[in-house]
Amino acid sequence: MWQNFPLFPDQASTIAPKVDAIFFFGLGVAAFFSLLIAVLVIALAVRYRRRRPDQIGEDEAPHDALEIVWSVIPLLILLVMFGWGARVYFQATRPPANAVEYYGIGKQWMWKFQHPSGVREINELHVPLGKPIKVKLTSEDVIHDFFVPAFRVKYDVIPGRYTTVWFQATKVGTYHLFCDEYCGAEHSRMVGSIVVMDPKDYEQWLTRGGGAAAPAASGEELFSSLACSTCHRTDSTVRAPLLVGLYGSQVQLADGSTVKADDDYVRESILNPQAKVVNGFQPIMPSYKGQVSEEQILQLINYIKSLAAPAGGATPTPAPGKKG
Ligand code: CUA
Repeated sequence: MWQNFPLFPDQASTIAPKVDAIFFFGLGVAAFFSLLIAVLVIALAVRYRRRRPDQIGEDEAPHDALEIVWSVIPLLILLVMFGWGARVYFQATRPPANAVEYYGIGKQWMWKFQHPSGVREINELHVPLGKPIKVKLTSEDVIHDFFVPAFRVKYDVIPGRYTTVWFQATKVGTYHLFCDEYCGAEHSRMVGSIVVMDPKDYEQWLTRGGGAAAPAASGEELFSSLACSTCHRTDSTVRAPLLVGLYGSQVQLADGSTVKADDDYVRESILNPQAKVVNGFQPIMPSYKGQVSEEQILQLINYIKSLAAPAGGATPTPAPGKKG
């Protein structure tokens, strides 16, 4: 619809037409009232102009009904904008349950991506058409911002934290990816592309990546090469909590509080193990800050995520608590 109108990017995701509809509604309302007010200002100035040099203004009785009407109508219009906007905002920020997870890391000044199958890319992300995709984002250094105008998707990429964007592409093509947060000298060149492919082409493209290991497998390797397995054993919880079934569970901490074992918790436990010590354990784990990159932390999280609770039993109960 907008290809020939260079002011406007393609509409290439499921959320794009919804965002545009709100935008044009707001623009329409603003244009209508601006015009109405401009016309009234001019018309009334002409109609009530001073006709004789000694003419003075007349008193006007208050019009309650009129005042109520011009207060209630804008209120209703604004409430519509609010409700509609909130609805689309929730759709845009909550990935559907079946979304496939990709990883993105911002770094001065490039984008690094990893596919669920393990394939890695720099400044390019290939995705299949028509599939909901979420990209878990973090930064290696400063704040960046993941912005794909054609998808109407934009989210800050923050060091030390995970943020998630999701989209479902509706059109095959190559679309701009911008860093939309000033991040240093080369910020303006921190650009890339999202390549939307037919699912069959995408499968074929993936095989060209060679034998890249899936994030969980790389994480497992890292887990033993960093010697995490010395303490985090599967047969003993003497020195460190059991990690099987940890991910997604509620963890009881030494200070009596509980915390959900999500990405941020696991990340913090790797970099700053003393921050949240699991009930029943000594704070003996060393920090891995500076020894693992953001990419490796994501791999470790994926590995821990892959250690599902054993079939039949829920989370393992004998351990006094668990910690990553
Ligand atoms: Cu990264 Cu601007």
